[in-house]
This record gives sequence, C-alpha cells and structure tokens, in this order.
Amino acid sequence: MAKNLIEVEHVKKYFPIHKGLLNRVVGNVKAVDDVSITIREGETFGLVGESGCGKSTLGRVILRLQSATSGAVKFNGRDIHSMSSKELNKMREEMQIIFQDPFGSLNPRFLVKDIIGEPLKVHTKMSSSQIEKRVIELMELVGLDASRRNRYPHEFSGGQRQRIGIARAIALNPKFIVADEAVSALDVSVQSQVINLLMKLQREMGLTFLFIAHGLNVVRHISDRVGVMYLGKMVEVGETETLYANPLHPYTAALLSAIPKPTPTKKRNRIVLQGDVPSPANPPSGCRFHPRCPFAQEKCSQVEPALTEVLPGRQVACHFPIGMEGGSDLNSLK
Ligand SMILES: Nc1ncnc2c1ncn2[C@@H]1O[C@H](COP(=O)(O)OP(=O)(O)OP(=O)(O)O)[C@@H](O)[C@H]1O
Ligand SMILES: [Mg+2]
Repeated sequence: MAKNLIEVEHVKKYFPIHKGLLNRVVGNVKAVDDVSITIREGETFGLVGESGCGKSTLGRVILRLQSATSGAVKFNGRDIHSMSSKELNKMREEMQIIFQDPFGSLNPRFLVKDIIGEPLKVHTKMSSSQIEKRVIELMELVGLDASRRNRYPHEFSGGQRQRIGIARAIALNPKFIVADEAVSALDVSVQSQVINLLMKLQREMGLTFLFIAHGLNVVRHISDRVGVMYLGKMVEVGETETLYANPLHPYTAALLSAIPKPTPTKKRNRIVLQGDVPSPANPPSGCRFHPRCPFAQEKCSQVEPALTEVLPGRQVACHFPIGMEGGSDLNSLK
C-alpha cells in the first residue's frame, strides 16, 4: 500500500464570534471539530458534505492557508503547522489549490501566460524566455491552445479558465493539490472533461488530490476513497465503491438518496433529509446528525459517536450503522 502523504491529526478550526461594544468573544463557529484523516500518496480523496460543513476550511488548514486552532497536519511526516515561514515557503511549491470559481480566481488584468507563469517567476530563477517555454508546455498539457497565451482570461470559456487554473497549479510540479469545488461551477459535460484532465495529470505526474464537492455524484468517478463531513465532523470514510454500494452512516445514505437515478427506484430505502443544517456555532448534543436522522434513538442525543473502524478500511461515526449487527435497517423506512 502507498505511504501516507498527508496525515491530519485531531484538527480543530474554530472561528470566534465577537459581540457588543467590547467585542467580546461570545462563542465559536466550530467549522472543523476534531478531524483525523490520512491521504495516501497518489490517491484522490473525495471530501463531500452540505454547504457550511467545513470542507473548504479543512482544505485550507491542510495547506496552512489558515492556522489550526489545535491538532497537526503532517506532509511527508513533517508537521506543516510548526514549520518556520522559510520552510513553509519551500513546502508551498509542493502543495497547490484549485478554486471553484473560474471567473473570480484569475486576475482579469493579467495575460494568461503571466497568470500561469507567476508561480515560476516567484519560486524559481527561470528567465522570462524559459518561463514562456514552460507556459507553452503547460498549456498544451492541460489541453489549451498555447497560441492564445497573450490573451486575457475573459476571452476563455469557463472550462478553459478552469484549465488555466490547473496549469498554474501544476506549474511547479507539486505533489499535492486541493481541488475545492473545482468543477462545481461548470456544465456537466465540461465537468467530466475537467475531471478526466485531472485524472490524466494525476497518472502522468503522480499527483495526490483532495477533491472537494457538495455531492457524492461528482466525486465518484475520480475518488479512490471518500470522506463524508457533517457539521465539522468526519462521519464516514471508505473506499469509493464500497461506500456507494453500502453506506454505513444514515447521512451518507441520505446524500446517496439525493443523487438522481436514470430509472427511478422504489420510494423505500430512500432517506430524505428533513430540516436545515444546524448552526456549527451551536451543534446538537450527542451525534450532531440526530435531529435529522430517521434512525435516531435516545443514545444518539446523549453520546457523541467516535469515528471508528468497523470494517477493514471503513470508518463510521454512528451508534447504529446501517446493515451492521444491531444497526439500522434501510428497509424499515416507510
Ligand atoms: N473566516 C471565517 N470566519 C468566520 N466563520 C467562517 C470563516 N470561514 C468559514 N466560516 C464558517 O465555517 C463554517 C464552515 O465553512 P466552510 O466554508 O469550510 O464550509 P464548506 O463545507 O466549504 O461550505 P461550501 O460547500 O458552501 O463551500 C461555516 O459555518 C462558515 O460560515
Ligand atoms: Mg467550500
């Protein structure tokens, strides 16, 4: 098995809530609340969950674009949150991020060649003609017409702009890329083109991805393993195919129920999420999902379930995992 490239250990990220004239801290938004995951070298780890559950915050803390409130993030065995800024700068070349919005994340006043070439200018001693040569290579690698390098981003379509962002992200030959909703703003057909491009680059460059999206359908094709987040907690982790075939956490089952199927199946076995996501400033007691869970029992409102390995490679944070002995039964749903 490949070695772990990223080790996230008990990471918390709280945002203080200030109030009143004295600007006193009256509480915390617990955006990420004690998350531990590992990402293996060369794999794609898909991260899903509803809006506001902490996916982007976790991605940013892993890259140390934000500090952690507590916990550690190890890259190749070294804790990046205790590195000096000099060490961190070196590390930055190995870790990159691709953002959601292909319209907002590229500077409209820069030529495409300058956008893609900027990391090379900042982090290497390459001459401008060497940079231009590398930009041409990079544009060809991501399927862009390199003769258009002297144009501005607005002259490109959404999918092409996402390719510009990808070319920029891979310019320094990174090891690890966080793709935060990288395809969410694109049409479905363009989405799969960009996903195929990312998979091609992964094979060719040996990249490791954290691929963030709202829904389980987007991450299925690209992910080796998937982690499901709910209100700042990781609630289930598993190999993609087994997790889709056999969700253990009722929340995972609910996200799967939300994926439209080509042929509508029986109404039974579907979990329809009721109500809104509670506030991460004031999460429910016990299991955070219990107020929305069709299987919740008394214990669920009292005792917080820990993320536990219940099957080889399968972790779930639920007192009554679906299909397990003494667990919940999807067939019991009306
Ligand atoms: N800088 C910040 N200051 C205060 N609160 C923040 C900050 N950034 C994020 N939050 C809060 O932390 C929680 C998690 O936000 P985050 O952006 O990580 O969620 P997300 O899962 O990426 O959501 P989305 O799917 O909408 O992108 C939210 O309640 C959000 O309002
Ligand atoms: Mg986000």
